[in-house]
Amino acid sequence: MLNDLQEIERLKEEKNAIILAHNYQTKDIQEIADFVGDSLELCIKVSEIEKTEIVVFCGVDFMAETAAILNPHKKILIPDKDAKCPMAHMLSAEDIKKAKKTYPEAAMVLYINTLAEAKAEADILCTSANAVQVVRTLPHEKILFGPDMNLAWYVSQHVNKEIIPLPPQGHCYVHKMFNFGDLYFLSEKNQDAEILVHPECNPNVQKFADKVLSTGGMINHVKPSKQKKFIIATELDMITRLKRENPDKKFIPAFNKATCENMKMHSIEKVKNCLLNEEFVVQVNKKIEDKSRVAIERMMEITKNQYLNSQINNKEAY
Ligand code: 13P
Ligand code: SF4
Repeated sequence: MLNDLQEIERLKEEKNAIILAHNYQTKDIQEIADFVGDSLELCIKVSEIEKTEIVVFCGVDFMAETAAILNPHKKILIPDKDAKCPMAHMLSAEDIKKAKKTYPEAAMVLYINTLAEAKAEADILCTSANAVQVVRTLPHEKILFGPDMNLAWYVSQHVNKEIIPLPPQGHCYVHKMFNFGDLYFLSEKNQDAEILVHPECNPNVQKFADKVLSTGGMINHVKPSKQKKFIIATELDMITRLKRENPDKKFIPAFNKATCENMKMHSIEKVKNCLLNEEFVVQVNKKIEDKSRVAIERMMEITKNQYLNSQINNKEAY
C-alpha cells in the first residue's frame, strides 16, 4: 500500500503531470512540487511547458487562472477550488471600465493578483517582481494601477508618473498585519539583520526596510548575500523556502502570525485526490482568455530576459 507521497509520484508518472507551487505553500507541498516560485516565475514556467499533459497548481485562483490562460491546451488543476486571493476579488471588470472612462488618457496596469475578467480590461499586467519596470516602459504619464494600493505606492516612488490606485484601498490582509512598531522593535533587538519586505506591505514598513522585494526577489537576494541574518516581512512559509535553501542563515519573521489562509487550503491529501480524480479543472471563458492573454504576454515580453532560472525543484524540462 502506497502512502500519499508515493501515490502522488505514481500518479504524476501515470498521467504525465507536474506540480507547481507558490512560495507560500507549506513545506510538504514545496517538497513534492517540481517547481516552486513567485508569480512571475510560475507564469514563465507554465508558458514553457510542452510535454506535460496535466499541471497541478498549488496556489490561489488568480495564479491557476493565469496558468490556464497561458497554456490553454494543458489541463490545469487546483487541489482546492476555494483557494481564492481576497485582494484579487477587490477589483471588478466593471470598476475598470468606469475608471477608464474617467481617465481615458491613462494606461491600465494590473497586478497579476486579479481575476481573468479584470485582466481582459488591462493594457498590461505586472507582478511584484516587475511592476516598476513595466510602468517605466509605458509612454503614458498617468497610470491606473490596481488592485494593491501599497504596490501602487511602491511604484510611485520609483517612477516620475502619476499613479492612481484602483480601488483606492485595495490591499492584502496578510501583508497588512506587518506594522512599523513591531519591525522597529525587532530591528533594535537584531541590529545585525537585514530587513526584507514585500511591496504589498504598507508604506511605513516599506520605508523602514533595507530592501523591498518580491518573494522570488528575496530568494535571489539572500542566496549570494554575505549577510547571515534577515528579518522577513511576508507570508510565513516564505521563510520555509528561504531556510531550505540557506540552512546556514537565520530568518526572523516580522510577524509570526502572517499566514495566508487561502494559500493554505491545499494539502498533500488534496494534491493526491486532485491527480486521482483530475479535479478541479480551471477554466476561463474563451473570449476573456484571449483578451487577457494579450495583456499578460505584453508583460512577459518585457521581463523574460531578466528572468533568472535559479529555482530549486526545477527537476527537468517539461
Ligand atoms: P509574489 O509574486 O512576490 O510571489 O507575490 C504574490 C503574492 O500573492 C504576494 O502576496
Ligand atoms: Fe492574496 Fe495576500 Fe494571500 Fe498573496 S498573501 S495570495 S495577496 S491574500
